[in-house]
Amino acid sequence: MDQYAVFGNPIEHSKSPMIHTAFAEQTQQAMEYKKQLVAIDGFKQAARDFFAAGGRGLNITVPFKLEAFEFADVLTERAQQAQAVNTLSLTDQGIEGDNTDGYGLINDITSTLNWPVHNRRVLILGAGGAVRGILHPLLNERPSEVVIANRTLSRAEELASISPLVSASEFETLDGSFDLIINGTSASLAGDLPPMPNSVVNANTQCYDMMYGQNPTVFMRWAMELGAAQVADGLGMLVGQAAESFYRWRGVRPEVAPIIQQVRAKL
Ligand code: ATR
Repeated sequence: MDQYAVFGNPIEHSKSPMIHTAFAEQTQQAMEYKKQLVAIDGFKQAARDFFAAGGRGLNITVPFKLEAFEFADVLTERAQQAQAVNTLSLTDQGIEGDNTDGYGLINDITSTLNWPVHNRRVLILGAGGAVRGILHPLLNERPSEVVIANRTLSRAEELASISPLVSASEFETLDGSFDLIINGTSASLAGDLPPMPNSVVNANTQCYDMMYGQNPTVFMRWAMELGAAQVADGLGMLVGQAAESFYRWRGVRPEVAPIIQQVRAKL
C-alpha cells in the first residue's frame, strides 16, 4: 500500500492521520497514513529514510516547515511565496515541496463559510510563519486593504513590504473597523488576546481564528461579545490544507464538509 505520514515534534495530538484515513475511505484510495515523532535535529535524515523506504508523501508540521522547504528538490510557486513547506511529494522531478496552508484557509473562508474577501478591509493579527503562509493566497482574492498587526512591529513591516495594499500596525493603534479579522497569533494558546481597540469590530465583521478547539477560542469569544456578525475557528483550514495535500498526492479531491464534522465530533 502507498505510504504517507505526518512529521512533527510534538505529534501525539495530530489530527492528520484521522483526516487522511477518512479522505481515503471517502474516495476509495488504497493508502496508509501514519504520524511520526521526529527528533528536533533529525528531520532531514528521517525524511530521506522515509522516501528511501518507498514512502510517497509527507505532511510537515511544527517545527519542521522551514527545514522541509530546504529539503525539497523542487518547490511549487506557493511554497516559494510562503518560504515554508507543509507537503512533500515524490514526483518525477524529485521530492517536491508545496504549501497548502493558504489554500486551506482561503477555501474555508470563501467556499465553506462563504465569506467574501474581494473588496473587503482585512485585519491580520500576527506576523509569524502561519501568517506568512496565508498572505499571498489572501491577496489573490483582491481585498481592498490588508493591515497586519503584530506585537513586534518590525515583523509586520517586513511582511507588509510585499504589496502596497498591505500595511503594518501595532495592536493598540489600529484605526477604524474591519470587514474580516483573521487571528494568526499563537496568543490564544496561552489564553491571551492581543490588546486591540474594540472599535476594530462592527456588526458586519467576520472573525476567523486559525486556532481551533473543543470550545470557542478567546478570540472568538471576544468577537462575539463585541457583536461581530460571524465567528469561526480554524478546523476547516486544517481539513482544507489536508484535502489539498491529498489532491496533490492522489489526484482526487475529497469532500471536506463531512470530514470537518467528523473531526469536530472527536475534539
Ligand atoms: P507560527 O508559526 O505559529 O506563526 P511564530 O512564527 O512563532 O509561530 O509566530 C507566532 C505569532 O504569534 C507572532 O506573530 C507572535 O508575535 P511576535 O512576532 O511579537 O512574537 C504572536 N504572539 C505569540 N504570543 C503572543 C501574545 N501573547 N500576544 C500577542 N502576540 C503573540
